[in-house]
Amino acid sequence: MAKVPTVKFNNGLTFPAYGLGTWKSEPGQVTQAVKDALDIGYRHIDCAHVYGNEPEVGVALKAKLADGTVKRDEIYITSKLWNTMHRPDLVEPACRTTLKNLGLEYLDLYLIHWPFALKEDGDIFPVNADGTTAYSDVDYLDTWKAMEDLVKKGLVKSIGISNFNKRQVERLLQHATIKPVTNQIEVHPYLNQQKMIDFLKTKDMVVTAYSPLGSPDRPWAKPGDPQLLDDPKIKEIAQKYNKTPAQVVLRYALQRGLIVIPKSVTKSRIAENFKVFDFSLSNDDMALLNTFDCNGRICPFDDSYTHKDHPFVNDEY
Ligand SMILES: NC(=O)c1ccc[n+]([C@@H]2O[C@H](COP(=O)([O-])OP(=O)(O)OC[C@H]3O[C@@H](n4cnc5c(N)ncnc54)[C@H](OP(=O)(O)O)[C@@H]3O)[C@@H](O)[C@H]2O)c1
Repeated sequence: MAKVPTVKFNNGLTFPAYGLGTWKSEPGQVTQAVKDALDIGYRHIDCAHVYGNEPEVGVALKAKLADGTVKRDEIYITSKLWNTMHRPDLVEPACRTTLKNLGLEYLDLYLIHWPFALKEDGDIFPVNADGTTAYSDVDYLDTWKAMEDLVKKGLVKSIGISNFNKRQVERLLQHATIKPVTNQIEVHPYLNQQKMIDFLKTKDMVVTAYSPLGSPDRPWAKPGDPQLLDDPKIKEIAQKYNKTPAQVVLRYALQRGLIVIPKSVTKSRIAENFKVFDFSLSNDDMALLNTFDCNGRICPFDDSYTHKDHPFVNDEY
């Protein structure tokens, strides 16, 4: 079985640099997908409360722990605190709900999913009477303190953030007593995030690359939108290495020192995506892939652009 490279977090813990994404994985499909992934050799699963499928991921984990495929300390499970649960008193209950859903005693990594908070009224996507998104003004610094308490209580091994911009990371670092280990952000050849990656390196934080394949199943995709995996230039590189476009863009992320978390519910693709540890892209091809950047953001969360803490409105990165 291929050995997955690991990264070392700033808290000293190691973590697999490769995992399975689960956003949009239907509850009826995700159990099998996670079982297949663990059989194939995946040891890291990226989950979130908002994906609405943590109980079904938990069924797979329970089965694979019970049949001896994996032991608890061999797998690395990430989840994320949703925006409606940023209020400090809601953080531990949210974490406990996720633990219960996943059937786990602890999480390996828990992230603040987005820096901005939404109204805490129970709806995952709360709306005002006029149909606009209902905001909350809880400050992510207060949320972070409650995240730190989860580490102290042993509910989570590591904590991190997702979708934070540079200014928000800097502000958080000024106040944190436990540093975030990672910022999970969108990274692929059309949004290569070199500046953010370089910045986070100076802070001893690892980047986790989401939507590495260009998220072709994103719900808001329109016919005619550019499709990363259909890019003729990427297909050409893939042919050269006798690999697929998906394998090339995943390898690209790994060679940049990122953690990468491709999603699939298709067994053959889960296996295909794992065959990225047996080849290397040349420096020239890495440099070529670096030129594909076109600010092609896929996950803008644009219905909350007017929120004071939205990360992608006023800052370069
Ligand atoms: N923190 C955040 O805000 C955030 C945001 C977005 C994503 N994420 C995380 O990152 C993970 C990955 O991102 P993503 O789900 O947006 O997109 P992605 O991994 O870039 O792409 C997933 C899509 O690619 C297809 N696919 C997978 N392997 C393929 C292959 N070898 N050839 C062709 N198509 C292939 C999948 O199809 P099938 O499943 O049908 O096989 C699915 O449609 C998420 O699942 C989630 O865990 C986090």
